[in-house]
Amino acid sequence: MSLDAVLARIDQDQPAALDRLFDLLRIPSISTDPAFKPDCARAADWLVADLEGLGFTARAHETPGHPMVVAQGGPVAGAGGPHLLFYGHYDVQPVDPLDLWDRDPFDPQVQDGPRGPVIRARGASDDKGQLMTFLEALRAWKAVHGTLPCRLTILLEGEEESGSPSLIPFLQAHAAELKADVALICDTGLFQDTAPAIVTMLRGLLGEEIVIRAANKDLHSGMFGGLARNPIHVLSKILAGLHDETGRVQVPGFYDGVTELPDAIRAQWQNLAFDHAKFLGDVGLSIPAGEQDRTPLEMIWSRPTAEVNGISGGYAGDGFKTVLPGEARAKVSFRLVGQQDPEALRIAFRDWVRAQVPADCSVSFAEHGASPAGVMQITHPAFEAARAALAAEWGRPAAYVGCGGSIPIAGYFKTHLGMDAMLLGFGRDDDQIHSPNEKYDVECFHKGIRSWARLLAQLT
Ligand code: BES
Ligand code: ZN
Repeated sequence: MSLDAVLARIDQDQPAALDRLFDLLRIPSISTDPAFKPDCARAADWLVADLEGLGFTARAHETPGHPMVVAQGGPVAGAGGPHLLFYGHYDVQPVDPLDLWDRDPFDPQVQDGPRGPVIRARGASDDKGQLMTFLEALRAWKAVHGTLPCRLTILLEGEEESGSPSLIPFLQAHAAELKADVALICDTGLFQDTAPAIVTMLRGLLGEEIVIRAANKDLHSGMFGGLARNPIHVLSKILAGLHDETGRVQVPGFYDGVTELPDAIRAQWQNLAFDHAKFLGDVGLSIPAGEQDRTPLEMIWSRPTAEVNGISGGYAGDGFKTVLPGEARAKVSFRLVGQQDPEALRIAFRDWVRAQVPADCSVSFAEHGASPAGVMQITHPAFEAARAALAAEWGRPAAYVGCGGSIPIAGYFKTHLGMDAMLLGFGRDDDQIHSPNEKYDVECFHKGIRSWARLLAQLT
């Protein structure tokens, strides 16, 4: 059977597939840091060349930020079979703190891991390793059949990790080129490391940066302390007031648009038997710290959050300095669910902060991305095909799950292009995405490629 031939080809081609992934991983495409802009362009060009090698017509489109790679391939329109769009992102998160890495984040290597060999590098799991699973499946398909499996559009973004600022205008300008029957997104993980999973709910995200300024310069805390206002105190008091003692967020209007989990999904999630003790235990914790009346899965998948992601100000270097700083900064992000409106929340948050800033201090804000939560319809026939393909490859039924993270485009496929999107991926909870020593299990890379080949066989 020809699927067997494709799977055999994938197995044979593993060493070469790893080499190709390593080439991509060597490019430090950190989208949030302007210093790496040329590297983002280089990663986009690398992908264009690889897609051309697969028979696609491919191009890196300029945007105000980083390039958007779009490729068209396979049988022409009207030839029958589905038209699939595949989405992944080639940008990665910053690597700091660099001293916590065991090796150069952009010098990938296969190392021993807890469950077998792992690919160690920034972007190995999020999302270069994952996006290459799809391209490798196409490569094996083409090697066996001589053609791509169906009409295909590939969209690879370079700004996902920095809030996708160019995405909506790009989708609007290229709607006709991008519209397909269904979108496949590979940027999520397995459930509890072993079960294949399809994500049906994703949280949205709002990012805000606050700067509180007091004195017009840093001061000696002996000379001025007690008399001059300390902006770190002002900031910490505001941040400490984000939650009450039960974990509820205190910004007025924050819960507007938050919906309760439908009973059917609640029942589905109960059946998943999530082991929260292990999930927390693996990172050295044991006590769920969110809203006290919610289950752990709700806390990470279906409830909104407010988190402080970073604080700076004053002197935090080695030794000690008696400084009374002139300014203090914090980066705050909110995960959003249901119909919560990111822009309305931005306004409410800023008003809430401003009302707490004493006279004689000033506050300014910078925005960092805003995307609403997404709920995926699972009626498209690709979902049943994917469940069958995933179950065949992983030997376990595919779970419908939530995802606490955000992938801005997931909801936009529906709202801006009118197409359903299906999110499936092969990451594991211990991949350390966004953290030092990110890895992707070689097994996930390999079985991921095989999963796509099986799905393509089901769909065509
Ligand atoms: N691949 C992640 C989304 C994800 C997170 C999937 C956790 C599975 C588990 C994605 O690349 C990501 O990290 N997104 C950012 C988006 C943000 C910077 C706009 C996120 O969720 O923080
Ligand atoms: Zn990602």
